[in-house]
Amino acid sequence: MTELVRLHINIDHVATLRNARGTSYPDPVVAAHLCIDAGACGITAHLREDRRHIIDSDIERIRASLPTQRLNLEMAATDEMLAIAMRVQPDVVTLVPERREERTTEGGLDVVGGGAKLAAYVKRLTASVPKVSLFIAADDAQIRAAAALHVAQIELHTGEYAHAVTAKESGAVAAELRKLLVGAELGRKLGLEVAAGHGLTCDNVPAIAAIEAITELNIGHAVISDALFVSLPTAVREMRDAISEGVRARHAATYAQGHP
Ligand code: PXP
Repeated sequence: MTELVRLHINIDHVATLRNARGTSYPDPVVAAHLCIDAGACGITAHLREDRRHIIDSDIERIRASLPTQRLNLEMAATDEMLAIAMRVQPDVVTLVPERREERTTEGGLDVVGGGAKLAAYVKRLTASVPKVSLFIAADDAQIRAAAALHVAQIELHTGEYAHAVTAKESGAVAAELRKLLVGAELGRKLGLEVAAGHGLTCDNVPAIAAIEAITELNIGHAVISDALFVSLPTAVREMRDAISEGVRARHAATYAQGHP
């Protein structure tokens, strides 16, 4: 059932831990293999301009050692990153906004504001790699602008939803879920594959996995954190189970609609 939703594990924070001591361990490539062996569909890694976690050689080694698996490279829309993507040939490139001072990717890419410059960049990227995804807010205008760029996929930012769950603000949780549901359906209607990610945990992921139009989840921090206590393979399996719980709710809802 989980296969309805591809789980990509973001391994950035394995590199964060390694870089904290300047050692060669823990190795994100070893982590990537453990995740795939435990049932993840793919690996996601963000090569930031400041190289604060994943570094160029990590991407090259992951690409070389997982040739038949899906490698999703997250990157900013810069000429430097375009050259790397063209050379490394990840299976998917996800364009994300990037600011040096941020702790993690905050907010989605402004596709509307990116205008002709972003459109030209996406055109070059689309011609260079198999699949392009844009990390955006579940916002009508952004989703339509992404579709107009003829990308294959959008990834909806679930950070606000995750914050609302943590803050136990049930009204905000419902509102954010509604935005994600409407946005995912719009994306699907416009012919886009719809992924989602950011801030997802075993506790808050079922409601996201229950959204029928969502076909992929990119999850990092929670899985790597859980791995400290239960091992990485177990953390991946527990996340898959939590996603399955959400997918089962899809089927229950469909069944209920058909059987009032
Ligand atoms: N998707 C995108 C585009 C991201 O930038 C990130 C964080 O790097 C994630 C998913 C994963 O977020 P988290 O680490 O909070 O699970």
